[in-house]
Order: sequence, then C-alpha cells, then structure tokens
Amino acid sequence: MTDQARHPQAAIPGKPTAASRTTLSHIMTHNDTNLLGTVHGGVIMKLVDDAAGAVAGRHSGGPAVTASMDEMVFLEPVRVGDLVHVKAQVNWTGRTSMEVGVRVLAERWNESTPAQQVGSAYLVFAAVDADGKPRMVPEVLPETGRDKRRYQEAQIRRTHRLARRRAIKELRDRRAAEGIED
Ligand SMILES: CC(C)(COP(=O)(O)OP(=O)(O)OC[C@H]1O[C@@H](n2cnc3c(N)ncnc32)[C@H](O)[C@@H]1OP(=O)(O)O)[C@@H](O)C(=O)NCCC(=O)NCCS
Repeated sequence: MTDQARHPQAAIPGKPTAASRTTLSHIMTHNDTNLLGTVHGGVIMKLVDDAAGAVAGRHSGGPAVTASMDEMVFLEPVRVGDLVHVKAQVNWTGRTSMEVGVRVLAERWNESTPAQQVGSAYLVFAAVDADGKPRMVPEVLPETGRDKRRYQEAQIRRTHRLARRRAIKELRDRRAAEGIED
C-alpha cells in the first residue's frame, strides 16, 4: 500500500497552526448575566464554540461541526463590563476531525490592567461536506514548542476519548446481551 493510500490526507498540503489561530472579543453586558449577576456560563460556552468553529472552518477550508466539547473549565467569574477574549487554535488533526484548544481571558473594558485567564476548553470538530458527511482535513503543522506540547497533549486526550467511548459501548453491549433492561 502506498503512503498516500495509507494516509490519504497526505495529498492535502498541511497548514501551520498560526494560519487559523483566532481571537474573538466581546464586552459583557447585563443581557449576559445569570441570577447571581455574574456572566452566565452558557454565554461563555457559546463564544468558545463560535471561536473554535471559526478556527476549524479556517483550518479545514470549509464547514465543520462541533462533535464534542470537553474539559470546559471556569476558573474565575466573569462580570458585566469585562472585555472577554476567546483565543482558539487547532491543537491536533486526525483524518476528518480536529481538536481545537480554547483559552478565555477577561479584562475590565476601560482599565489597562492585564487580562486574566478565566476559562479553557477543548473541542473536537469534524469537517463535513455538503451532505454533512465527514471529509478529510489538512494535517496541522505545529510550529512553536508550545504548539508541539499542545499537539502531544491533544493526542493523549484523543486516546482517552476513544478508550472511554469503547469501554462504555462494550459495557452496554454486554448488558444488552445479558438481557438487562435499563
Ligand atoms: C460529528 C459527526 C459529523 C460525526 O459523524 P460520524 O458519522 O459519526 O463520523 P465518524 O465516526 O467517521 O467521525 C468523524 C470524525 O469525528 C470524530 N468524532 C466523532 N464523534 C466524536 C466525539 N463524540 N468525540 C470526539 N471525536 C468524535 C471521529 O473520531 C472521526 O475523527 P477522525 O476521522 O479524525 O478519526 C456527526 O455525528 C454529526 O453530524 N454530529 C452533529 C454535529 C452538530 O450538529 N454539531 C452542532 C451541535 S448543536
């Protein structure tokens, strides 16, 4: 088997991480609050999905859909009047999927104090064709030492995601085979 048959995406030129890295910035207003008066986590999650989706689309050169979002971490509350920056980049690519890493930073909109990290997340996007079927993505080419570390860490998460899915499927199949009803 040729290299191209084994790794068909080798036919698509790879893209450096920096080519699709994106920052989405947004000022938080009273429309964004929860019942406690701080910013609703779902508002932040939407910004995270939006930024990651832009990155996945730019990297894959077309539409991409969110397949999963994991390890969404909220480190500090976000407040009305915070200017939130959502920084996203492709950490890793598979055949048709990409892991996008996102960091969320916040600073007061009218102060020159440094922005503080308030959250982070990892999302998997699948590139899709016009029929919504997965299509191949260019390989991401990590450039800096930090990009390379993120690539390696993303591979670890990928291994764990697949192992977890497989283990749960096996358990469910076993229970179904034993006639156990939920
Ligand atoms: C994501 C989707 C395209 C996957 O389709 P599928 O028929 O299951 O295709 P595959 O099993 O070949 O998966 C495609 C890729 O996505 C990855 N993937 C699929 N589901 C995943 C999950 N839950 N977590 C992580 N990766 C996942 C696969 O590992 C594969 O990656 P690879 O080609 O790099 O190895 C399909 O499930 C879908 O359209 N989901 C809805 C997406 C959507 O509407 N998102 C918005 C949410 S509101």
